[in-house]
Amino acid sequence: KNLGLIFDLDGVIVDTAKFHFLAWKKAAEEVGFELTEELNEKLKGVSRVDSLNKILGWAGATVSPEKFDEMAANKNADYLTYVDKMTSEDILPGVESFIREAKAKGYPVALGSASKNAPGILKHVGIYDLFDTIVDGNSVTKAKPDPEVFTVAAKALNVAATDCVVFEDSEAGIEAANNAGMLSIGLGSKDILTEAAYVFGEFTEIELSFIETQTTTTNT
Ligand code: G6P
Ligand code: MG
Repeated sequence: KNLGLIFDLDGVIVDTAKFHFLAWKKAAEEVGFELTEELNEKLKGVSRVDSLNKILGWAGATVSPEKFDEMAANKNADYLTYVDKMTSEDILPGVESFIREAKAKGYPVALGSASKNAPGILKHVGIYDLFDTIVDGNSVTKAKPDPEVFTVAAKALNVAATDCVVFEDSEAGIEAANNAGMLSIGLGSKDILTEAAYVFGEFTEIELSFIETQTTTTNT
C-alpha cells in the first residue's frame, strides 16, 4: 500500500512551540502588546514575517521596515538561545519511534514545516537523517494554510496527495493539509484543532496500523 507521511516540526516532532511563544511574547512587549497563549494559537504554523505582521496588527502598531526587520531578527536570536539548550530529550514522546516504525515498513517520510530553522533543529537533536525529504521555510513561498509545503513534500516523496497523512499541531497546518486533500491528524487539543480528521494528545496514543487504514482513498 502506498502511504506518505508528512510531519510538521514545531509542536509535533520537537517541543519548540513554547519557545516560539516566549520569543514572540517578548517581541510583542516592545510594541506594548501582551501576547496571550490563546492568540498564540493563531501564530502556530505561520511564517516569521506573517507572525510579526499579525502581532503588529493586533497591537495596532506600525513600524518602519528597518524596525520590522530588527524585531524579526531579535525574535529569532531569542528563539535560538532556547534552541541551543535543546537535546534529544526535547523530541516529543513517541514520535521518533513512530517514524522509525513507518520507515521500517517502507513508507517514505517528509518534513513539512514553515520554519527556516528546521534543518538546524533536526541536526541539533540528531534526527535529520530520518527524513527522506525536508520541505521548510527556505524552500516554499506560500505559507500555511496554503497547501504548498505539503504538496511539494508529496511530490518529492512521489506519493499522491490522497495517500498522504499530515501530522500537525496548528490550526493553519490542519487547514493546509485539508486544502491539499490529505488526511489531517492533529496533535493537541480537539477544542482547538476542530478541522482535523482525528486529534491525539501525543504520538504514544497513535498506532501506525490505525493510520494505515485511514487514508482518504480507503474511505472513498
Ligand atoms: C513554524 C512555527 C511558527 C514559526 C514558523 C517560522 O511554523 O510553528 O511558530 O513562526 O515555523 O519559523 P522560523 O524558525 O523560520 O522563524
Ligand atoms: Mg507546528
